[in-house]
Order: sequence, then C-alpha cells, then structure tokens
Amino acid sequence: MEKYYHRTACSICGSRNLSLVLDLGQMPLANAFLKKEELFLPEDKFPLCVYFCRDCSSLQLLDIVDPEILFKYYDYLTSASKPLAEHFVWMGKELAEEFVSSQKDLVVEIGGNDGVLLEAIKEKCRVLNIDPAENVAEISRRKGIETISCFFSEGAAEKILSEHGNAKVVVANNVMAHIENLKGIFSGVKKLIGEDGVFVFEVHWVGNLIGEGGFDQIYHEHIFYHSLTVLKHLAESIGLKIFDIKIVPIHGQSMRVFAAKNFEIRSSVDEFLAKEKNLGLDKEETFLAFAQKISDNKKRLIDMLGQIKEEGKMIVGYGAPAKGNTLLNYFQIGHGLLDFLTDTTPLKQGLYSPGMHIPVVSPDKIDEKRPDYFLLLAWNYADAILAKEQKMIEKGSKFIIPVPEAKIL
Ligand code: TYD
Repeated sequence: MEKYYHRTACSICGSRNLSLVLDLGQMPLANAFLKKEELFLPEDKFPLCVYFCRDCSSLQLLDIVDPEILFKYYDYLTSASKPLAEHFVWMGKELAEEFVSSQKDLVVEIGGNDGVLLEAIKEKCRVLNIDPAENVAEISRRKGIETISCFFSEGAAEKILSEHGNAKVVVANNVMAHIENLKGIFSGVKKLIGEDGVFVFEVHWVGNLIGEGGFDQIYHEHIFYHSLTVLKHLAESIGLKIFDIKIVPIHGQSMRVFAAKNFEIRSSVDEFLAKEKNLGLDKEETFLAFAQKISDNKKRLIDMLGQIKEEGKMIVGYGAPAKGNTLLNYFQIGHGLLDFLTDTTPLKQGLYSPGMHIPVVSPDKIDEKRPDYFLLLAWNYADAILAKEQKMIEKGSKFIIPVPEAKIL
C-alpha cells in the first residue's frame, strides 16, 4: 500500500453517491509527534476531508492512511489519562459482573492499548489483548496480560478461536472508528463469540461531534463518525443484532453498543434511533451546517487568542491530545500564540506537536511558569482537569475551552 489511498466508494454500503461536507485541507497525522532532529525534515501531510454517504447516511473519510503507519508505534497510552483509565476499570468490572460466570470464560479486547481494562478483571477470567502497536503491547504484557501484537481481522479471529476457544465477551473501545474494513471486524467477532457471547464497544458518537463536542475529533485515525443508525445496518448485514446502547461521558459523549446473535433487544435501541432521526443525522444539510459552525468558531478563537497576546499574557496548551493537533493545524495556532503544550503522557514529553511544532513538556512546567491562560486542548476531561488545577485557577490562571464555541471560563 502507498502511504495513503483515496477511496471512491462508501466503506459501509459501497455507494458512490458521496458528498464532501467538510474539507480540513492537508493535515499531518495527529499522533505523529516529532523529535527535535525531525523538525527540519519534510513532514507527511494527507487530505483530511469528510464525506456524507447519501445512500446509507454514514460519515467518513475517503483518504485512508496505511494503518501500519498509524498504529504500529503509538504514543497514546490509556493509562496516561486518569479519568479514561478509571472509566475502563469500571467498564471492565461491569462487563465481568454481567457477562462472565466462570474463571474459564475468555474476554478478548481488540485494541486494548496498555491493558487497563483487562488488568481490572484478569483475576476473574481468562483475558487476551490484541493490539497492533508493539510498544504499547509490551506494556500490556508487563502487566501479566497475554497480548498478541497484530491487527484484528477475520483471520486473526479464526486463529484465536482455534487456540483459545470462544470468547464470552469481545470488547473494542475507540477502535470501531479506526478500521476501514468494519465488516471484517464484525464477521471476526461473530465467529469468536459463538452462540452466546457478546460484543461490546465504545465509539464516539456523531451526534456529539456536531453538537456539544468538537470537530477536532476528526483526524486520519478516525475513518468513521458513527451513528447507531449506520452501525445497526452494518451489524445486521453480518448477522449480529444490536441489543442495547448507552451514552457514556467519554470523549465528549460516546456510544457503548452491545451486539450479539441471540439477545433480546432492549427498548434503548429504538429510542436512540428515534433521537438520531430528530437530530437529522440522516441528512446532508445537518453536516453542512456543522461545517459552517467550525468556520465561525475558527475566527472567534483566533481573535480571542490574538487579543490575549496583545495584552502581553502567556497562553499554554493544556494536554497534547491527537484532537488538539487537528485544532491547532486547522486554526493555524502555533508557537507564536502558545508557549508550550503540557501532557501527562511520558512518551509525548520532549517531542514537538505535528505540523505546528509546539514543544510538549511535562505538567511540572506549569508550576514553574504560571501561565495566564490555558487553552484546554483535552477539553473532554474538563471537569477532572479544572478540579485538579483549582489552585492555579485561584491564583488567577484562566481556562479557554476551544470547541464547539470558544469560551473563557
Ligand atoms: P484523549 O482526549 O484521551 O485523546 P485523543 O488523543 O484521542 O484526542 O487524550 C488526552 C490527552 O491529554 C492525553 O495525551 C493525556 C493528556 N492529559 C493531560 O495532559 N492531563 C490530564 O489531566 C488528562 C486527563 C489528560
């Protein structure tokens, strides 16, 4: 495969009746943080354009970057974001409580990253992590979790099945937006869970993306911006039924979707589908209006930051999430406006942000520099971060939430 290729048909239904609703231009990869010596080398940039399928209503990228480039080495660690780690520990325990009945039961996690969820339940059942990033898989193994470093596929599912038997639960959090061949994933999982297992996955919800969340969740790793409406069609086309859905407060709002072959369908599913219809998630105009909102907010945030700099104040970016790099690059917010970014992920510290080349440092630097303003790039953890930084706020530092409409708290 070339570094990327352009699809001409919808990855979900095969239609060519696709409409470009948002063009973010040429963008670097959102997790491709750079070493100092790489700053002067040419940086890969790829088109970041969002398309609406007029036949199945899915929202997706058609410029697909080679997953080997995106996921073989990964700077992102679940354990670096405390609220996320806590969420997955709690989710793991809930799933074990509801679906695991014996120590012999198997729970497989697709894209289990550094093993936070499985570690929480590994005394209760057999666990297996499947994650393509070698560096992250190694951290998971060190926690005593059997981890296979590969991309999940129908073939991988067959191999797991022959070596480990059926899984009682397959979990896949924040990966169902990342994989082009979703039918292959559903088919593989269907084989693996057999007649009475369940497939539970969390994925960010397009209703939140265009509402209270932020467009910055759009980057090359996220090929899809899912609705339940589209996921239901897809699951059914493979012979799985979605039997439950919950909204969880992760990455703004994510859907937790439950699928299986033979479970009774709960009322939550129809209720949620009706809610999506009311929001117009099946209409192209909804996404064109979203694109206009982004462009209005761009002007608003740039004006706000420019004015603060004119007053001679210091602004730093709080967090260096992937989404922050979409925001910084599309809005062209660089080192002239932000002195540095702080991030709790050790792997990111000492590196530079893709595209805008802003240094990423440890949060210890905050106490030393006492910035006047923080641009909260990790806005999805606003509650936890504001609580953690209460002292800084009492001393006069202010937080700016960049999306969906920039505001100073
Ligand atoms: P996250 O929002 O989970 O994801 P994405 O990369 O998909 O946009 O990333 C949050 C980032 O913010 C992660 O790099 C860790 C960092 N972070 C902090 O620096 N401080 C904090 O208190 C928290 C919660 C996260």
